[in-house]
Parts: sequence; structure tokens; C-alpha cells
Amino acid sequence: MAIGILTSGGDCPGLNAVIRAVVLKGTQVYGREFIGFRDGWRGVVEGDAVPLARRDIQGIGKLGGTIIGTSRTDPFEDDPTAATARATLERLDVDALIVIGGEGTLSAARELAGFGVPIVGVPKTIDNDLSATDMTFGFDTAVGIATEAFDRLRTTGDSHGRCMVAEVMGRHVGWIALHSGMAAGAHAILIPEQHTSWDRLAGWVTAARDRGRAPLVVVAEGFVPEGGAEAYSVQGRDSYGRPRLGGIGEMVTAELEARTGIETRCTTLGHIQRGGTPSAFDRVLATRFGLAAVDAVVHGRFGRMVSLRGTEITHVPLEDATGRLNAVPQSRYDEAAILFG
Ligand code: F6P
Repeated sequence: MAIGILTSGGDCPGLNAVIRAVVLKGTQVYGREFIGFRDGWRGVVEGDAVPLARRDIQGIGKLGGTIIGTSRTDPFEDDPTAATARATLERLDVDALIVIGGEGTLSAARELAGFGVPIVGVPKTIDNDLSATDMTFGFDTAVGIATEAFDRLRTTGDSHGRCMVAEVMGRHVGWIALHSGMAAGAHAILIPEQHTSWDRLAGWVTAARDRGRAPLVVVAEGFVPEGGAEAYSVQGRDSYGRPRLGGIGEMVTAELEARTGIETRCTTLGHIQRGGTPSAFDRVLATRFGLAAVDAVVHGRFGRMVSLRGTEITHVPLEDATGRLNAVPQSRYDEAAILFG
């Protein structure tokens, strides 16, 4: 019997560190065998798997991405009982599955667990939008990359006396924008949780310019300005049917230039925030999650997700792992907004 591992949804720095920790502890301490399903649930549905022995995971803890690939395949799409996926697990003699993913992936895992499949979940998302864990790995790396990019934008902005707008990821929540913006000393931060008006934004930008600063505005992709109905999306939908976001930064740039007369430039960080080497913090968190996940499998704690509470790794039922967003609280936004303008 083998333990299956899959990574699903958008990739995230630290995925390989989870895989490494699971396989290392699982083989060395528990004497178990592992297989990796390729490209998330697609590998389970199509029976596409590779062996994961100790030699396969050597040196991968510091690598970005995921060595087993990822996708946004939904095992329940066109298959209401996920019978095909369950048949694969039986055929490949898989007695437990470690599923590393975000909201969509963990929802599918919860449903599959309802059909009796022994599953342990590991939370993953750079957006840090899962409420059942204090933090997800990938977030710290994304914040670090964004902060470094803003520091660079500020020197060119200062040289030209321009306003610089930077768009970061954050579909439903603005944690990346809030932390990286605060770290870089942004003059305004726009997040999905706050429907800031154009007037208020223009006020902050003008105040910064009037003090001789080159204003920096950080905007999360999911930001909706006051009076707007939904997040800016002109690129269709992804395979989960969600609108593909991106482009709000350009809209903010045009609006600011028109309202303030300040020459403004937009930079969209995009997938740069998600690629590359994980930070030391993310490597450690991902490794601890991996160690806890394989312990949970061996001790039969199925239908649960590993989670960080304070500094301790614990478990929560998969039912509690999804459905409630980890939104930026009003108090955290108000605290940051003291520094705007
Ligand atoms: O998974 C979260 C996320 O980082 C969102 O912030 C963003 O909308 C999405 O990924 C984009 O991912 P992709 O380009 O892979 O669809």
C-alpha cells in the first residue's frame, strides 16, 4: 500500500518542501512508500502517478513550484461521485491521500473524504485567505518579492517625480497588498475588503506629492472601488469557473492621472510573486506541515487539515477548513491607513 500525494490549484513557493518532508519522514521513520499524482486531481482521475522515493525528493526543499505539477482539475466535474478518481486509488493500492491545496482543492478533498477516501489536507495559498490556519506557506515569499519590487519602483518613481501604481495578487483578500505595502511605506493600499473611493485615493496621492514624495499605490487584483460591482476581469474564466483577475492597476493609474494630473505608471507583479525560491520562513512552515501531515496519516487522523495556530501545528476537520475567508480585519486596515497620504 502506498500513500498518495498531490498538489493542486495555483502553485506556491514551499510545495516541494512539503513533499520532501512527507516523503523523508514517511520513509525513514514509518517505512512507508509514496507516489505522487501528476498535475493535481488530473493525475488521480487519469491514473497518472510517479513513485516518490527518497532520491526523488533530494534537494527540493528550496525549489519553487512543485515537482509533481499542478492543475485546477476538479475530480467531481462530470463525475458526481468521483468514481473514476476512487477507482484509481483502489487500482494503485493507495490507502491514504495527502492533498496540498487551497480553498477549491480542499473542498474537493472534503467531498472525497465524504465518500470514505482517507485524506489529510495541507493548506496552501500565497493569498493567505484560509481562515482555518493562522498562516499558509507561500505568503511570506510573495510579500518579500513584492516588497523588493516596490523598493525598486520607489527609486525610479522618486527620480521622475511620478506616482507608481503596483498591482499584486489577492483575489478575495488583501493580505499581500497590506503587508508588502506597509513594508515598503506605500502612500495608499487598496484591498478587496475596502471599497475605497477615487476621491479618497486621489487625496492620499496628492498629499504625498505635495510633501515632495513620489507616491506609491499598492492595489490588490480583487479591489473594487466604491460604487463598483465586482473585481476587474477582462480575461474570461479559469478552469474552476472563476473570473481571471488582473488589470485593476491600469484602471487605478488612468483614474489617478485624470484626477491628480500627476504622471503615473503601472506595474503588475503577476506570477513573479508566485514563482521562485521560497523564503526561509515558508520552507520551515511547509516542512512542519509536511511532517504533521504524514503523522496524521500514520495515526489515522483522516478528514482533517494540518493548521498553524500561534506557533503550534495542529489539525482541524476538513469541513472547517473551507468556506470562511481569512479577510483583513477592519482594525488591521485602519492601523495601516494611519500612514497613508
Ligand atoms: O490562487 C490564488 C491566486 O494567487 C489569486 O490571487 C490569483 O487570482 C490566481 O492565483 C491566479 O492564478 P492563475 O493565473 O494560475 O489562474
